[in-house]
Amino acid sequence: MEQRSAWGSKIGFILASAGSAIGLGAMWKFPYVMADNGGAAFLFLFIIFTMFIGLPLLLAEFVIGRHGKTYSTEVFGKLTGNKYFNLIGHLGNVGVFLLLSFYSVIGGWILLYMIRTIYVIVTKQHTKHYEALFGTLISNPLYAIFGAALFIFLTAYIVSKGIQGGIEKASKIMMPLLFVAFVVIIIRSLTLPHAMTGVIYFLKPDFGSMNSEGVLFALGQSFFSLSVGFGGMLTYASYLDKKTDLVQSGVSVVALNILVTILSGLAIFPATASLGIDNAQGPGLLFIVLPYVFDQLPMGSVFYLIFLSLFFFATITSSISLIEINVSNYIKHNESKRKQGVYLISILLFILCIPSALSSGVLSEVKFGAGTFFDNMDYLVSNIMLPIGALCFALFTGYRLDKAVAREELMDEKYRGLFKVWSFLLKYIIPIVIITVFITMIMK
Ligand code: PHE
Repeated sequence: MEQRSAWGSKIGFILASAGSAIGLGAMWKFPYVMADNGGAAFLFLFIIFTMFIGLPLLLAEFVIGRHGKTYSTEVFGKLTGNKYFNLIGHLGNVGVFLLLSFYSVIGGWILLYMIRTIYVIVTKQHTKHYEALFGTLISNPLYAIFGAALFIFLTAYIVSKGIQGGIEKASKIMMPLLFVAFVVIIIRSLTLPHAMTGVIYFLKPDFGSMNSEGVLFALGQSFFSLSVGFGGMLTYASYLDKKTDLVQSGVSVVALNILVTILSGLAIFPATASLGIDNAQGPGLLFIVLPYVFDQLPMGSVFYLIFLSLFFFATITSSISLIEINVSNYIKHNESKRKQGVYLISILLFILCIPSALSSGVLSEVKFGAGTFFDNMDYLVSNIMLPIGALCFALFTGYRLDKAVAREELMDEKYRGLFKVWSFLLKYIIPIVIITVFITMIMK
């Protein structure tokens, strides 16, 4: 029987897609990838890519999803009559699965830090050695696997019950609170001694410090943090009614995402500058720096726990959207298969997350090329599969999708001229940029 879920309201859709976008990408990944790839120049490129490549692609996913009203491995064939285009959906379906396998590991770290902070509040056993703490917590195989498993379980539980609606409501409170929490951290960070050095580092671009790999990373980061390229936004839009203004929703999601990215940079870099912590900490950066900042606040541990809860909430709204892509492709409109699909996918995810979970501990010396299993997984997904997915979306929408469909979905009447710019970007600029970045990387 066909019975598709639907969003409760227009704000519900914006919250859900902003919830999908805002997550580990903007808060955890951005600061350390930026630090490893040219500092402020990276931020600058990231914003340009997000506005001129990410946003048009986000709108493309919205258009395809809402018009097609079906799951991502069927929609491309349905809209063109050529089922080979469904390969785009299959690429995304595999991509999100791989993505989620290492995403859950970081989600697990947040949970471990929450548990650890509760322990500190209760026992008052404080540590000042946050780098060492990060090392011991994350490198312990049992902890790391337990954290990831708990994260997968919580995501699966919400999606199996089909209670994303509840999450959507909770977003109305949690997301604004997350902003407030960031403002508190930023004020503390900015008032630490020598904070200005960090602000300058974050905002003053030095393009000489950036190489072609940095450009690819900035591109991958903009897809990762906007959730475009794998059909996640397409899936969400397929549950959407005709009334919602897609352009307005897309612009809101992009603006919020850029805002959170900037907030997390302003929270972290003034603090590292002040505390003399090296920015090149890799994936541990956020986890090592923030406890120091909270230490400088009265009732720091309590505030830290509140921040971690909000951070966790933002992360799980993203993992829900990731797993929903796999689930919707598995159940193919048959809602009664939802539970079965969720459990099957979670078990497979759990198995695949183990090598990533162990990559900061027992498997840290097992290198494939330059990095651990985790690093390679992230590289493959963020810098190869996502840009390829994005390229396919641009070409499909630019050359194959019926223009009339896109005009109608984007309300060409209201946004005069915008449609032409959008089309031009998808047809020429986006493919040229993605292909050029790839070729420069290969020739390097
Ligand atoms: N945008 C999410 C984040 O930044 C990750 C994501 C990617 C979610 C692709 C869905 C699809 O955390």
